Amino acid sequence: MQIRIVHDAPVEVRAGAIVVPVFSDGRLSGAAVALDAALSGALADVVAGGELQGKLCEHALLHAKDKPFRRVLAVGLGDRAQLEPFMLARYAGAAVRVLGRLGISDVAIALPEELSGRAREAAAAVAEGATTGSFEITIYQRDPERRVAIESVAILSGNGDRKALEAGARYGSVAGDAVNFARRLAVTPSNDMTPTHLAEEAVKAASESGMTAEVRDEDWARAKGMGSFLSVAAGSAQPPKFIVLRYNGAPSSKDLLALVGKGITFDTGGISIKPAERMEDMKYDMSGGAAVIAAMSAIGKLKPKLNVVGIVPATENMPGGRATKPGDIVRAMNGKSIEIINTDAEGRLILADALCYANECGATRIVDCATLTGACVIALGHAAAALISNDDAFAELVLACAKPTGERYWRMPLFDDYGRQMRSDIADLKNTGGRDGGTLTAAAFLHAFVGETPWVHLDVAGTAYLDRGSAWSAKGPTGVPVRAFLALAERLAQ
Ligand code: BES
Ligand code: MN
Ligand code: ZN
Repeated sequence: MQIRIVHDAPVEVRAGAIVVPVFSDGRLSGAAVALDAALSGALADVVAGGELQGKLCEHALLHAKDKPFRRVLAVGLGDRAQLEPFMLARYAGAAVRVLGRLGISDVAIALPEELSGRAREAAAAVAEGATTGSFEITIYQRDPERRVAIESVAILSGNGDRKALEAGARYGSVAGDAVNFARRLAVTPSNDMTPTHLAEEAVKAASESGMTAEVRDEDWARAKGMGSFLSVAAGSAQPPKFIVLRYNGAPSSKDLLALVGKGITFDTGGISIKPAERMEDMKYDMSGGAAVIAAMSAIGKLKPKLNVVGIVPATENMPGGRATKPGDIVRAMNGKSIEIINTDAEGRLILADALCYANECGATRIVDCATLTGACVIALGHAAAALISNDDAFAELVLACAKPTGERYWRMPLFDDYGRQMRSDIADLKNTGGRDGGTLTAAAFLHAFVGETPWVHLDVAGTAYLDRGSAWSAKGPTGVPVRAFLALAERLAQ
């Protein structure tokens, strides 16, 4: 999708449609006023008649025969005083979905003048929302029905700062592409998205954005002492891959951000096998890893001044003849022994070695993300991901970076009690602590492999994929937490 900033007066723009905002107070502003005048007050009529109340993403389509712009799509932006940049991503996403399905390929989207003081963020949000809004999973369909046809988006700048607008559009378009990349990786089923294929995608992404990629195999992991990671791979016919992406944007700095993502390309549960119902969703169990690879590819393109290493342990969790069995004891890279009570608690096992490896790389901050626990979906539903941390300042920083992106995180505690729940009678740790506080005991388990390094754990089990689409986004994988990762990288580079 081609995205550009346009400084023309709205009434002179040539496009299949112009998108303008309408707030819930019903007062037209900015481009909406000019277009309403060109339409002899038709837009004001629609609002006055109550056909459009200005609720977020609600819309009304007006035709503008014989005008250079052929249609006006008015899209609700809610309460004028509560406007946040991420709402513009939803506004733009809803618009491209409505217009794209009508077969319109070129649209212009007006920025609300209310955000002209935050031109960069506003343009970024529109570019990101237009890009992610047009994403549909049609890869496997011979006759896709839902295709969103948008090819070109002109962002109508209003009176915002030109340089800021250009920079924002670039950021938003790279971020949107990264979100869609993560979604494509996640939605691809496990027969295609094997650990080997995921590694190939990472290598390709690295070469396109000037990063180095290392794909390590089973022998390497064994030599490293990654017995915990390898215990999960033991039952699978697919070879595991340990993927490492490196971006060095601040060679003279000692700071290193590690992004670690769970890369289970399919989670059957292993010998502690899962019930059949909804097991197909477990192709999404590499969503965390996909987000790390996609965020790294965007970081390589945006070139912020910081150092980042992306780490994705990738394997299937299968009940093969050589599979790990409940009661087995394995040893992680840091020497800690783990009694495996339940082979379905595999995410923490692969992350244990990946977190040790992040420390070995010299990480000064670690963020991991994983579809780790069903308990997280019980606790927070699909409205937010859990954030757990050993460092208040870093937790606050990640929360603050994520907030304006529209991705939601909710901090949960890391009390010593949860760590005690993970003690084994016969090994240093066990891999499950029972049903109570399942998200927090999982985090406490990971903490044992992180040590003192400032660390944030994101359990995205409830937000990495959704059963229902929205006005602004297709159902299925969401690309969470790519936006938060990029915002954090930008912030740390300042
Ligand atoms: N991948 C699952 C967690 C999951 C469940 C993600 C549902 C998304 C939706 C994870 O590997 C798992 O199976 N966790 C177990 C842990 C338990 C055995 C301690 C769980 O949550 O049931
Ligand atoms: Mn599992
Ligand atoms: Zn899993």
